[in-house]
Amino acid sequence: MSRKTLIHLVLVLAMLLALVSAVSAAPPAQEELSYTIKLGDTLWDLGEKYLGSGFAWPALMASTNQKNIEDSTFAYIKNADVIHPGWKLAVPSEADAEAFMAAYDSSKPELLFGSRASGQLVVGSWWTAGGEAEGLNGMFRIYRDKYPDVEIVNATVAGGAGTNFKAVLKTRLIGGDPPDTFQLHAGLEVEGYSPEQYIEPLDDIYASAGLEAAFPSDLLTLLKYKDHYWGVPVNIHRSNVLWYNKAVFEANGLTPPASFDEFKTVAEALKAAGITPFVLGTKDGWEAGHIFEDILAGTMGAEKYNGLWTGDTPWTGADVAQALENFKMMLSYANPDHSAHTWDSAGEFLIAGTGGMMIMGDWTDGWFTSKGFTGYGWASPPGTQGIFVALSDSFAMPKDAPNADNTRNWLKVCGSLEGQEAFNPQKGSICARTDCDPSLFNAYLQSAMVDWGQDAIVASVAHGAAAYESWATDYKDVLTLFVASGDVAAAQTGLQQACVDAGICQ
Ligand code: GAL
Repeated sequence: MSRKTLIHLVLVLAMLLALVSAVSAAPPAQEELSYTIKLGDTLWDLGEKYLGSGFAWPALMASTNQKNIEDSTFAYIKNADVIHPGWKLAVPSEADAEAFMAAYDSSKPELLFGSRASGQLVVGSWWTAGGEAEGLNGMFRIYRDKYPDVEIVNATVAGGAGTNFKAVLKTRLIGGDPPDTFQLHAGLEVEGYSPEQYIEPLDDIYASAGLEAAFPSDLLTLLKYKDHYWGVPVNIHRSNVLWYNKAVFEANGLTPPASFDEFKTVAEALKAAGITPFVLGTKDGWEAGHIFEDILAGTMGAEKYNGLWTGDTPWTGADVAQALENFKMMLSYANPDHSAHTWDSAGEFLIAGTGGMMIMGDWTDGWFTSKGFTGYGWASPPGTQGIFVALSDSFAMPKDAPNADNTRNWLKVCGSLEGQEAFNPQKGSICARTDCDPSLFNAYLQSAMVDWGQDAIVASVAHGAAAYESWATDYKDVLTLFVASGDVAAAQTGLQQACVDAGICQ
């Protein structure tokens, strides 16, 4: 290449770069500010100071009055010339102020006084079990306080882990008839809904509600797909918890097993005492996959477990075979009628003291609490001490949401401190936000908060975080078959095939 061509190329590249950075330098949506009026302030001056022009005072007045409808600590301005020191104003972002001014018409003064949200908010989720339902209601309560004229429609489809809900939702999204908002796991699950076609990116809500500062950076990374946020997270759940009946363990002089060998010893002792050692339900087809992700992590450790989802750890290796053997051993101590039970109906054995141990996510803590049962203990399932198998529930907004404004308000409640504090203590999860008050949470959840801060965090596959939905489904199907057949070699071949079909393994 000649020197001239090279210089030419460099110049063209420089121009291109300048163009790209000019495009990406477009002002990001800003966080809303509040301002407390001081002696001598006028709306005109404040418009000049914060919005670049005194003429923008109507935007300041309108946003304050709108805010007052949701939060009476903000002022209600009846007359733009009468404002008092100490009043709190809501300062819109410059972009929001511009949009308001473009639509503002001084012959319609009602635009300055805000309007109450009305109509419906249809909320889609699978939260029907004890604890789940109470937690959701906690968030509904906060929403109703702010938007009393909106009718909330609780559009649940029962079935743990969204087994039935996800299929119904997909049909509704494709058919152009979605709920206003729906439950979505943080992570790769979103890909299964073709987000660019059906889901609204929420980057502007993240910016205006300051959500990037509210959530830990690892969670933000998990939430971003194709460079956008598609859901507002309400919690962090832990997949790997071994629950046990404390009275049963005490009566038999047992402590929770830390290794697979200890599991066998404890299970033998429980069996000898006439108690079902390991209770589980496999009715909905995801539970075996859930337990097995915890066994995988416990057998091979956090790093290798992570490698399973990136292609760095082979599914054909000896430790996957060992994990299947471990699961097979545990299943030999399970209630024989597990295929007739869901995760929560299996939990009844534990409450009744006819069952000793169960491995399930920490929504079980919310469920126990909703049942008034306090006789449960918790521990890491064998081998997972210091590992936190994590997942997070978020809410998303379909592109065709019929009540988009109500949905935006809902998403703000989902991300808010008061929304998360109302939801999580009952749901049996910890806040996605980092500023919730620990004293609102029970002893189990307080221990989960400590672990979340110090453990190795790995992503759950059974709950949408680690892999695309199609791979996660294949994985779960293999495990459900395995529970019935006990065929280690066939299950390992199936798991490898699922990884090949996902395009990750050769
Ligand atoms: C998970 C969900 C939890 C809990 C659980 C049982 O997928 O993230 O919030 O509801 O299913 O249904």
